[in-house]
Amino acid sequence: MTRVLLVAGARPNFVKVAPVLRALGAYPKFETKLVHTGQHYDDAMSKVFFEELGLPDPDIHLSAGPGTQARQTAKVMVAFEEVVAAQSPDLVVVAGDVNSTLACSLVVSKAVVPLAHVEAGLRSHDRSMPEEVNRLVTDSLAQILFTTSSDANENLLREGHPLESIHLVGNTMIDTLSKHEAAARKRAIRAELGLPPGGYLLVTLHRPANVDGPEKLRAILRALAEAPLPVVFPLHPRTEKTARDAGLSNLLDKAGATRPLGYLDFLSLQMSAAVVLTDSGGVQEETTALGVACLTLRENTERPVTISHGTNRIIGANPARILPEVNRVLEEPPSPRERPPMWDGRAGERIAAVLDRLF
Ligand code: UD1
Ligand code: UDP
Repeated sequence: MTRVLLVAGARPNFVKVAPVLRALGAYPKFETKLVHTGQHYDDAMSKVFFEELGLPDPDIHLSAGPGTQARQTAKVMVAFEEVVAAQSPDLVVVAGDVNSTLACSLVVSKAVVPLAHVEAGLRSHDRSMPEEVNRLVTDSLAQILFTTSSDANENLLREGHPLESIHLVGNTMIDTLSKHEAAARKRAIRAELGLPPGGYLLVTLHRPANVDGPEKLRAILRALAEAPLPVVFPLHPRTEKTARDAGLSNLLDKAGATRPLGYLDFLSLQMSAAVVLTDSGGVQEETTALGVACLTLRENTERPVTISHGTNRIIGANPARILPEVNRVLEEPPSPRERPPMWDGRAGERIAAVLDRLF
């Protein structure tokens, strides 16, 4: 048996690892244990994804919880070190770019256990974001690099990674989307919220640069309150905390704020939105796969394929640009294109096939 630990800690991780766990399960030689670091812990940020994506309960839960960058990373490291010592895995698989990804990668490397990174090679070239630091360190430690797009392969080759360590497999987040697309289409959430099909804006924001400062968040909420279409804005707990602490509750209501949504409801709302406004990495990719217009409130993206092959546009982080850009995209909606190569629902299977060959 090949003992595998598969790590997930935050909302986007659950969406990314579900297809990997399923695909590994098709090979009797792999004994895979799912490790939840506990970085995200609210039911709406964690449990609902396990239920809706058919993930089994985690085999191991680290209960790390929130903290500063260093504290959160350290809490996961200390707990995961004990797990690695007790489990003696033959391989650890991490995904994405969150603090749990970094923390577990450091532990695994020092325990001299092989490390595979799902979603390797993405680069924003902006080291002011913790995720970019997490990506750089994780990739520098991993021996097996699974990429979602050819730009990631180019980044990794440029950084000196050997060609044979890089495997372009496609996008496991889009595997999950493909699997649940039909179920999402049947959800009643749009009607429940009274939103016309194709006639509303869907918003998600959680990057510190957008939501940690009350002034910036107030300006964003004011712009959304003036939008030409109804707005629905499922709030990340980080965003909700800033808004409530700053006394912005009235403005939240005017800006269409609602609780964070489960995967199927959120996917359903993405499908029939006129425009999605976001600073999420995953949402840039999902709108690309769906052919839905996306405006990204950031200065850069580590996912350029969502611009070259998709419907994404980077509009910067200036709230004054929100309404002009929304009006512009409503006047001239982007034409949906073919999904990027290998965003075909089979990335998890390709990952398992590579690991079968290697172990
Ligand atoms: C993290 C990731 C980010 C990812 C995002 C996905 C890092 C550095 N950041 O950001 O890359 O895009 O997850 O959503 O890893 N909180 C709750 N309940 C929860 C989770 C969080 O209330 O279940 C609140 C806590 O106040 C916490 C804050 O949100 O301090 C931030 O959570 P954290 O996991 O540190 O960062 P995110 O902003 O969620
Ligand atoms: N998502 C969700 N409900 C929401 C907001 C997002 O299910 O209210 C899903 C979204 O469809 C995607 C994932 O969460 O699959 C993206 O996670 P997030 O934006 O938190 O993280 P990022 O991708 O920016 O790291």
